[in-house]
Formats: sequence, C-alpha cells, structure tokens
Amino acid sequence: MNGERTLEPAEEPLVVSAVEDLKSEAGREAATDVASGMRLGLGTGSTVAYFLRHLGARLASGELADVVGVPTSIRTEKAARRLGIPLGTLSELAPLDLTVDGADEVDPQLNLIKGLGGALLREKMVAQASDRFVVVVDDAKVVNRLGELAPVPVEVVPFEFDSHWNWLVALGADPKLRRNEDGEVYATDNGLLIVDCRFVNGIVDPVELENRLMHRAGVVESGLFLGLADEAVVAGADGVYRMARA
Ligand code: A5P
Repeated sequence: MNGERTLEPAEEPLVVSAVEDLKSEAGREAATDVASGMRLGLGTGSTVAYFLRHLGARLASGELADVVGVPTSIRTEKAARRLGIPLGTLSELAPLDLTVDGADEVDPQLNLIKGLGGALLREKMVAQASDRFVVVVDDAKVVNRLGELAPVPVEVVPFEFDSHWNWLVALGADPKLRRNEDGEVYATDNGLLIVDCRFVNGIVDPVELENRLMHRAGVVESGLFLGLADEAVVAGADGVYRMARA
C-alpha cells in the first residue's frame, strides 16, 4: 500500500458548503449545553445531525457521561445508535432536562415553523416534555414573520385527507400534499400524511392559525411551535450567537 492510508467513508456527508459549516457550528455550540447526567430530547434534521456528532464525540472522549436521549424520529434513532448515544423512551425519561432541535423558521419571539423533515409530531411531544428547548439554525432561517420562507407542515390522518383542501384555502393557505422524490405520497414515522401549507404573505396571526388547525378533526399536529423554545443558537458568517425571546 506504499504507506498510503485509506480513509473510511463518512457515515454522513462531510462539511461541503458554507451553510453546512454554519449548521455544524450551531450544533457544536449547542452540544456545549449538555452536562453529564442529563436526559435529552434529540431533534431531527440536518442541523441536529451535527449536534449529534458533537455530542457523540464528547461522550466518546469521556468528557460527558450518563447522558441518555429520546429520539424524535427513526432517522435520529439510527444516527444516535451509530454515534454511541444511549437512548430511552419519553415515558421512561420525562421530564427531560434539555431538547436540542432544528427549525425551518424562527421569529423574534422564538416561535417556530418545524417539520420540513417530517418529524413534527414526535418533535412537539418531546419539546413539550422538556425543561429547556434549544433550537439550532443558520441565520437564513431567522425571519420577522413566520411563513415568510417556509410552508407550515400539517400532519393529517390518511382518511379523506383531501377533504381539508377548501378549508385550508379559506384559511389563506396554498396546500400541497407532500410526496417523496419518486412521486409516492410521503408518510411520516407515524404512518400519517403531511400537507405543506404555504402562506403567500406570511402568517398574520400564528396563534389563531394554530388554534384553528388543532381544533380540526383529522389534523393530528401542525408545524407551528409557539411559545415552546427557550433559546435559539444561530450561526452566521460572523459567528454563532444566542437569541432569547424578544
Ligand atoms: C424535522 O421534522 C424538522 O422539524 C427539522 O428540525 C427542521 O426541518 C430543520 O431541519 P434542517 O436542520 O435539516 O434544516
């Protein structure tokens, strides 16, 4: 082999772009919030993947011990297992000390849109069971008004799912059933469907919208996370900063 070293392929993509770099920095910073003995909520998504890596590295080095996490998706469960992060269930471990999760949008009150990764229901269950909920994002996701960039994912039961269309349109949404890249209808880890609801001019009253959605039979959960986050760790070109509720 002429002294050459073969590099093992990475389990997940290495940092390949400036945005990935920012996600990694947000994940690294949030991993410093974890202390030995903590019960953690482990979010889902590409930014959390970096948090998990940094957390796994701290555990592997012996810097942290006795940490146990509740995963919010099958994807996160697999990643945590690969990284040697011990796992438990919400019913065993709640209340959790800290949950770290990504978001698709963060407003100045730390209200969020989540769920472009499809894990919104489990993410909200874990967040509501946590003493502290920290969000990790790159600064492109910080908005003045929710809905400026991202649609609101709405998780619905498959039965007569398209009976919600006219009702959603009347709420001001442009609803689209989520599909996989191959065109098949996307199903969540819970066997449910997602309707992505874009609001062309943003969401005027997120609390009212959440109330309407959550009182609709057939709707199981919405990607609006209002009043749940305690802090956001935001990574931008000038570094990482922490954002508290305005
Ligand atoms: C998963 O369902 C989502 O809520 C993610 O946390 C959110 O979409 C952010 O994901 P990224 O970090 O991949 O952008």
